[in-house]
Amino acid sequence: MNYVVTVFGSGTMGQGIAQVAAKHQCNVFLVDKNAEQIQKAKNYFETKKQKLESEERKQWEELVNRINFISGENSFVLLKEKIQQFSKTEGMIIEAIVENLSAKQELFQKAEVIFPSNYIFATNTSSLSIASIASTCKNPQRVIGIHFFNPAHIMPLVEIIPAITTSQETIQSAKTIIDSWNKTTVLAKDTPGFIVNRIARPFYGEALRILEEGIADVPTIDWAMKEIGKFKMGPFELMDLIGNDINFTVTKTVFESFFYDPRYKPSITQQRLMEAKLLGKKTGRGFYDYSSEAKPEPTKNHQLGEEIFFRILVMLINEAVEAVYLNIASIKDIDTAMTKGVNYPKGLLQWADEIGVEKILTKLTELQELYNEERYRPSVLLKKMVKEKKKFYE
Ligand SMILES: NC(=O)c1ccc[n+]([C@@H]2O[C@H](COP(=O)([O-])OP(=O)(O)OC[C@H]3O[C@@H](n4cnc5c(N)ncnc54)[C@H](O)[C@@H]3O)[C@@H](O)[C@H]2O)c1
Repeated sequence: MNYVVTVFGSGTMGQGIAQVAAKHQCNVFLVDKNAEQIQKAKNYFETKKQKLESEERKQWEELVNRINFISGENSFVLLKEKIQQFSKTEGMIIEAIVENLSAKQELFQKAEVIFPSNYIFATNTSSLSIASIASTCKNPQRVIGIHFFNPAHIMPLVEIIPAITTSQETIQSAKTIIDSWNKTTVLAKDTPGFIVNRIARPFYGEALRILEEGIADVPTIDWAMKEIGKFKMGPFELMDLIGNDINFTVTKTVFESFFYDPRYKPSITQQRLMEAKLLGKKTGRGFYDYSSEAKPEPTKNHQLGEEIFFRILVMLINEAVEAVYLNIASIKDIDTAMTKGVNYPKGLLQWADEIGVEKILTKLTELQELYNEERYRPSVLLKKMVKEKKKFYE
């Protein structure tokens, strides 16, 4: 589809989003207030070209030719001129700038002055409410969350998040555009963490808790999740890859945004790692030490592994069930989001059906009785389903 897409922010996410849009024939403007950063983005596209052979190289060149790189103080003046040239084409802006509410609000307010009224205003925010970003716009009906996953040009999932003020027309158009980019879209309510960043919390949180209790060490917990659970990566490997600073901040933001619901409580162990700048792969050390080839060996005790895996899995399933109960997304979209957004081996609700909701409830009740903590409270929907002998997929 031939759209005009303006991407603000040419960092990690902006580059990937611009690439996806240009690949699908859109005319792209990639804008960054920082000239050095826009140069880095240009270099990324250039370096990639050098690595390609004939036909692929030609396609890549065509793709890059559809991207206009803009930076500097007069970006908006330049953009205004360029956008006018496409006055007959539909378009949207996607902001992937710094995760700061007033910066995003200010950007949209400035953009409202120069972009046509039929343009969609999308935000790629991970943790801010779409409602708050839309609230300072003259036309909040056209503001919507379009949440890509990193790396945006590879990960298939995109969460579409309408705010309370978003129009049906905006939702439909946003979905049509993103679907035309060969992405898998799911619809999520404007609530903290949307689908993936909310439901995935126990993957890290419960693993950290098991570690803190001394039930198993880091390599053993990772081994259990990979070997028995068939997850592609263990929780600690993944936290080290994401960065302990980023992972901790996401958890803390979700926890605070849910008014300190104990289910999302961050871990002091991870906070200390962050404070010590043991951020993971990017600093050479996190839960693992990447300076040496030798990896610590897990304790390959199958019974222990099963216990670890099942405890983390029931916590994940409980989150997914609660999200269904609170209408965060549909059953199908929740399962799609977790398999396509974070590569889970199976949809959590499908998993619940296979194991049996009764078994899940029994384990959660056992944990809640043992710890006497709200963290383990089973979802009301889970209890109802057990009572009514229901499945998610009938
Ligand atoms: N990194 C991820 O894994 C990820 C995943 C999904 C969503 N997000 C969200 O995407 C957004 C961008 O994240 P990122 O990791 O790409 O950040 P980043 O720091 O890599 O890039 C942000 C870029 O925005 C530029 N910028 C800042 N203010 C600007 C403005 N007013 N106008 C134009 N450019 C401006 C900065 O110069 C920088 O180049 C954030 O809202 C983040 O929460 C990030």
